[in-house]
Amino acid sequence: MLFALLKTEILGEMMQAIPPEDMTVAVLRKGINLDRFNCGDDDLNSFLKSDAFIYEEKKIAKTYIVLYQNEPIGFFSICADAIRLSREERFDEFGVEKPHADYPAIKIARLAVSKSHSDKGVGTYMVKQAVGKTIGLSEQVGCRFVTVDAYPAAIRFYEGCGFVRNLAEKSGTNASMRLDLIDALRH
Ligand SMILES: CC(C)(COP(=O)(O)OP(=O)(O)OC[C@H]1O[C@@H](n2cnc3c(N)ncnc32)[C@H](O)[C@@H]1OP(=O)(O)O)[C@@H](O)C(=O)NCCC(=O)NCCS
Repeated sequence: MLFALLKTEILGEMMQAIPPEDMTVAVLRKGINLDRFNCGDDDLNSFLKSDAFIYEEKKIAKTYIVLYQNEPIGFFSICADAIRLSREERFDEFGVEKPHADYPAIKIARLAVSKSHSDKGVGTYMVKQAVGKTIGLSEQVGCRFVTVDAYPAAIRFYEGCGFVRNLAEKSGTNASMRLDLIDALRH
């Protein structure tokens, strides 16, 4: 009985979300120690620890780190993008067949949470941060969507954040998905 109670308590503690106000977002810079960061995906780990700095320097993608108690527990990289909408989707939006081929967007190019802090709302927090940055940008430059090429294992996570599949886009084994800023601003 005591063991069951302790187990529930420990599990409860482990599952507890980190309050957003306890996390900060910093631009990636050399001074942040990334040695202990491990999201469980070698490509994403090595992107953060080496390629992200090159992408930053070459202005290909901007990377942000989420810090909790001074520890990097998540990161996301964003860059400019454009997406194609299917004929039906364009009709639904505008009521007429507009000639636009592509619609302006900001892409979540990479996003990952350290395994030590998964299932605590950090991924959702980072998507909200990326959406917030895109909304800010859209006040200066036309930008309608946030996009992502989601790993198959992360599709449900992005759906939970309000993303839908793009009917007219393909991205290999990943799923091309988008979030409409106009919908996001309504909620
Ligand atoms: C996918 C990932 C970003 C989720 O981050 P997280 O901080 O653990 O997610 P959150 O705690 O914000 O979870 C939010 C919701 O999504 C669900 N969820 C999280 N990961 C999920 C997954 N892989 N599949 C289905 N649902 C998932 C959670 O259960 C939670 O649901 P709830 O709101 O009903 O409780 C993280 O697991 C990760 O970094 N994975 C490895 C890298 C990766 O796949 N990145 C995405 C590349 S496109």
